[in-house]
Amino acid sequence: MNLGFPLFPEQASTMAPRVDALFYFLVAVTSFFVALIFVTIVFFAVKYRRRGENERPAPIEGNFWLEVIWSVIPLGLTMIMFVWGAVIYFDMYNPPDDALEISIVGRQWMWKAQHPEGQSEINELHVPLGQSVKLTMTSEDVIHDFFLPAFRVKQDVLPGRYTTLWFEATKAGEYPLYCAEYCGTQHSGMIGRIVVLEPAEFQKWLSGGATGMSMADLGESLFQRFGCHTCHRGAGTPQGPALTGLFGKTVKLEGGATAIVDEDYIRESIIDPRAKIVAGYQPIMPTFKGLISEEGLLQLIAYIKSLSMPERAQSKK
Ligand code: CUA
Repeated sequence: MNLGFPLFPEQASTMAPRVDALFYFLVAVTSFFVALIFVTIVFFAVKYRRRGENERPAPIEGNFWLEVIWSVIPLGLTMIMFVWGAVIYFDMYNPPDDALEISIVGRQWMWKAQHPEGQSEINELHVPLGQSVKLTMTSEDVIHDFFLPAFRVKQDVLPGRYTTLWFEATKAGEYPLYCAEYCGTQHSGMIGRIVVLEPAEFQKWLSGGATGMSMADLGESLFQRFGCHTCHRGAGTPQGPALTGLFGKTVKLEGGATAIVDEDYIRESIIDPRAKIVAGYQPIMPTFKGLISEEGLLQLIAYIKSLSMPERAQSKK
């Protein structure tokens, strides 16, 4: 049946049919009970209507088994909804390890994407078909929200921290991208498109826009430019710890606490170096707040991450 307008966005990711199936189940269950309740209301209103001035209903004591049934059936149905929804939720928020990583920066009023190979795009995102893609996102100003209806995924994009979102496209084509959080007068114009390409075409697209500088390369040149290497070189110096192999590790902090070295920790250590001092070091690092853009921070993180990948760490020794 073609109504001339789509009731649902296309299903173009692995998550889409799963989210829709749960949604249809919720609609079916609620429709059934709405119908059941309204039909019985009308039926009882007619059947038990008051027929005379002196008519009095008989007192009702209640019915044990009736009460058990109308408690247990809804409990079972809501538990199905809960477990089904929780399974989808956890899958949605735990990206697979082999996902392709792309960074997204939102600002009033545009989306900027940067691929690990160095290509950047604005209000567009090219991704390969059949490969999971993980987005690491942040905002330069207010709260935005990255929303891909055809993929049934959506995630807030916040200033001052990283959020992630992942998907695996199942159908080549172009799909709309929206900002789904009111973020100022031109919020409704903060739109773009996702272009899903066959893997071979995606490789062609990637090499087409190649700058020769990957995210990690760009990060390394920032690392040199801001003089980070004076304290964080090789095996580390008395001023600053070594960064090679650090990403993903747990570090001991001054005062006994520990921290996991992830994107947020590195970002905080650049913007607010005194927040978490590694045990054995002095709080001498200056802040780089306002000096490095959000893209620059993501590039520095890509560089520090690359120092934990065997190939790169070897070549940089
Ligand atoms: Cu950005 Cu609404």
